[in-house]
Amino acid sequence: MTKKNRKETKKFVKDIKAVQDQYLDYPYPLRDPEDEKKRLIWISGSYLGELNHWLYSGKESFRDGFRILVAGAGTGDAVIYFAEQLKDTNAQIVYLDFSKTSMDIAKERAKIRGLKNIKWVNDSILNIPNLKLGLFDHINCIGVLHHLEDPDLGLKILKDSLTEKGCMSLMVYATYGSTGVYHMQTLMQMVNKNATSRAEEVKNGWAIINCLPSSNWYVRGKDLMNDLTMGDVGMYDLFLHKQDRSYTIPELYDFVAKAGLHFIDFSHYQSRVFLRLENYITDQALLTELKKRDLVEQQAMCEIISGKIINHSFFVSKQKDTIASFDDLDNVPYFYTINGLAKQIYDYLEANSNLVGGSINYSWKSPVICDNLNVSLPVVNFTKYLFKYMISETLSFREIFNAIIAEIGEKIDDKLLIQNIKNTLMPFEKAGVLLLRHKNVDLFKKP
Ligand SMILES: C[S@@+](CC[C@H](N)C(=O)[O-])C[C@H]1O[C@@H](n2cnc3c(N)ncnc32)[C@H](O)[C@@H]1O
Repeated sequence: MTKKNRKETKKFVKDIKAVQDQYLDYPYPLRDPEDEKKRLIWISGSYLGELNHWLYSGKESFRDGFRILVAGAGTGDAVIYFAEQLKDTNAQIVYLDFSKTSMDIAKERAKIRGLKNIKWVNDSILNIPNLKLGLFDHINCIGVLHHLEDPDLGLKILKDSLTEKGCMSLMVYATYGSTGVYHMQTLMQMVNKNATSRAEEVKNGWAIINCLPSSNWYVRGKDLMNDLTMGDVGMYDLFLHKQDRSYTIPELYDFVAKAGLHFIDFSHYQSRVFLRLENYITDQALLTELKKRDLVEQQAMCEIISGKIINHSFFVSKQKDTIASFDDLDNVPYFYTINGLAKQIYDYLEANSNLVGGSINYSWKSPVICDNLNVSLPVVNFTKYLFKYMISETLSFREIFNAIIAEIGEKIDDKLLIQNIKNTLMPFEKAGVLLLRHKNVDLFKKP
């Protein structure tokens, strides 16, 4: 080992230890394994139907030895969710985390659920090259890379663990929405300068939180964070973390490109909605001018306008075009976060035939997504039949087209149909309620 290498290794081990110790004492997120008897936590971006749509062109069944790594898996939310969805398959799920106490909680949760399809690895992401884990078709790494001293190295290691069709779901903190958090981290470092234990840091942390005036920047944006509902665990993770950074939108794209990966899209519907200029700017001339800017710049502006994006959840892939296409007539469109939505819309259009030729602004409350969903729906003579034939969730676009043509008794040009269906359904896709899957892929059990 050269002198330079020796120095780097030493530093790297020390850096890991501070974060590792924190997660040994405060496993995150706070979970009681007994709760597995009552509920399954649904994780946005980890429903197999979503992964299939956004990352595998709608063609992945997740059978045939599909391999998933959950890196920095914590107390097990994603691992449990994947293992439940893939229970009766030969897919393999690997849990990896350097916090043994977190892994023990995750293991207990899996035991209570009777899940046997998880391989448990108590180690560091940085040690993956030495672990002989093999390659993975999917890697989930949520809320972890921003806690590495060198997130670029972490992402590169994960990328090198992917198969050729491999892709990842990632989450890192977002800069502007987290402004108040970083104010508090700076403050806590000053307050805790002489603290001699984690318990003391936490005690001081609560004393500070409980006396903040309404003018404080964290208090101003308090409704954006719910970590403190986890008590001391949340306090430590949010305000007392020993290694923590955030990303602006341009930094995010740069992070992904530097690793040689393709940015596919944001995985959370809220980011897809919050990062569109048309959702804020009402001056049409200005909007037209700003929409000419490159997409990253448009989204960078939206991140600042919105002010409430606290993290970036997103998909990346080794492949370029991974999203299921509305042009592929063998794809089946289906709703997934709102039960019975196709029927609701069909019934509404059936009862309101005067809407043809206009558009409707429809608003739904979903039990899964947290904001009200607003979609503007153009209505033409065959729109109601589109929704009618989506109700079964089994018909491909081609089959739906044929059924529409039979209903209205006249031939419609395929291109016109596709364009119209894109205009109608793409806003639902962006809003996180609609997915496509190839007709040969079975419907995934819904959240
Ligand atoms: C904020 S928690 C997120 C847990 C989980 N991904 C989730 O979203 O619920 C971060 C986790 O990453 C783990 N972690 C951080 N750095 C790591 C590293 N270098 N190798 C392995 N695990 C790491 C911590 O132990 C902790 O469990």
